[in-house]
Amino acid sequence: MRFTKAMGALQLRFLLASVFTGIIGEAQYLMPDAGLVHYIDHRIVSIENRLDKCNQDIAEYVEEFREFSKKIMLRLEGLNTLKTELKNDMDHLLTRVERAQRDIDYFESAKESPYACVEVDEGLLEQELFEHEESKRKVKLMLNASCNYMIAGIKSLKIVKKSGDESGSWLKDPVKNYPKIYFLNGTKNKTVMEFTNIRAFTENGEKPSARRITLPFPWQGTGHAIYNGLLFFHRHGSLNEIIKFDVQKRSVVDKMLLSGAGETTAYELNPSTKIDLAVDELGLWAIHAESETRRNLVLTKINHETMTVEYTWDTSCKSQNAEAAFMLCATLYVVYNSPGGGTPRIECVYDTLEIINPYETPTFHFPKRQTSHSMVHYYPREKQLFAWDNGSQVIYKLLTKRKG
Ligand SMILES: *[C@@H]1O[C@H](CO)[C@@H](O)[C@H](O)[C@H]1NC(C)=O
Ligand SMILES: *[C@@H]1O[C@H](CO)[C@@H](O)[C@H](O)[C@H]1NC(C)=O
Ligand SMILES: *[C@@H]1O[C@H](CO)[C@@H](O)[C@H](O)[C@H]1NC(C)=O
Ligand SMILES: *[C@@H]1O[C@H](CO)[C@@H](O)[C@H](O)[C@H]1NC(C)=O
Repeated sequence: MRFTKAMGALQLRFLLASVFTGIIGEAQYLMPDAGLVHYIDHRIVSIENRLDKCNQDIAEYVEEFREFSKKIMLRLEGLNTLKTELKNDMDHLLTRVERAQRDIDYFESAKESPYACVEVDEGLLEQELFEHEESKRKVKLMLNASCNYMIAGIKSLKIVKKSGDESGSWLKDPVKNYPKIYFLNGTKNKTVMEFTNIRAFTENGEKPSARRITLPFPWQGTGHAIYNGLLFFHRHGSLNEIIKFDVQKRSVVDKMLLSGAGETTAYELNPSTKIDLAVDELGLWAIHAESETRRNLVLTKINHETMTVEYTWDTSCKSQNAEAAFMLCATLYVVYNSPGGGTPRIECVYDTLEIINPYETPTFHFPKRQTSHSMVHYYPREKQLFAWDNGSQVIYKLLTKRKG
């Protein structure tokens, strides 16, 4: 560019010089003036200088532009790198979201299988299964999902025994084929009675077949649970400590704090129970109330092996006028009564899998009689309810139907 301009300036000078020489040649006859020639020559030099200056300016401008475009190119390159990085991040994130979605789907299906839930969840956390095997197992679990039922009614009542205080708890282990019965009299004690089976429990016999088990700490309330040979109970004197006690080894194997629980009673009509533990086809749960949730019941799924919280739900079921609750097939059933005893009924149902519509569930009445329950626990093996009814140990047989 600069070169072309310089050439142009030279050509211009030559052209003007020849024109003026011609003019001067002719003018010599008319006006032979050396002053004029000098003037023209001076003008040409001046034009030349200005052209040079112009060239220089252009060159500078070009140089500046080159610098600027270099900078822009660098910035663009930087942006490109960022874009690539961002894209990689997005791809990574998408992969993770997809994987999480798969895990959720898998877990949802695993949840519907009785007793398999805890093992499946652990495997899921520990390692990523191959996609193929994962979907294979998923389909299998879905096809074999047998925990898809709900209560259709309460069929019958059987009074098993009259013994103990007004309040208390009696339990049977649902996991192994344990025939043993555990008897926890009162709302605070350290002594658990273990009976070899329900027959031994009902015999008000001469030979006392019960074994006395002394816990290292007393329990609080009536919300204990037995699961796989392990007794879970709310430790008396603690706000919300749950103890896991191995009945055979007679030792505490683990404990956990259920944060948020323990400040207030779970059921208004049963003030000693702050944390009610429940067992269903899917494992261990805890039910409690919090003043922040306007005394609605809070439901927590506990991993009984790691003693950690898996999920927590703020349910729509009220603590007011409630006396007990239990879990069946991942659904909370709350029993309501009148203060001082009356005719109990299940009036609130909360399905964590959201299959049962709570507004379309009828009220389930217990077989008609004046009662007050201090605990109602579900025994999944035989679809029965174990209840403590003012010093009587009773079993209710349930009618169930398919969910949804
Ligand atoms: C299905 O579940 C039942 C128990 O609910 C179990 O005995 C059976 O082995 C399971 N079948 C498969 C294929 O997983
Ligand atoms: C239950 O506990 C009460 C005290 O709380 C006691 O008087 C009663 O004898 C106990 N009953 C049994 C069967 O252990
Ligand atoms: C604990 O249970 C034993 C045996 O049933 C009973 O003798 C004792 O009075 C109870 N203690 C309390 C504080 O209720
Ligand atoms: C519990 O039983 C006792 C008698 O054993 C009775 O006096 C009391 O009224 C009963 N309480 C309720 C709530 O039914």
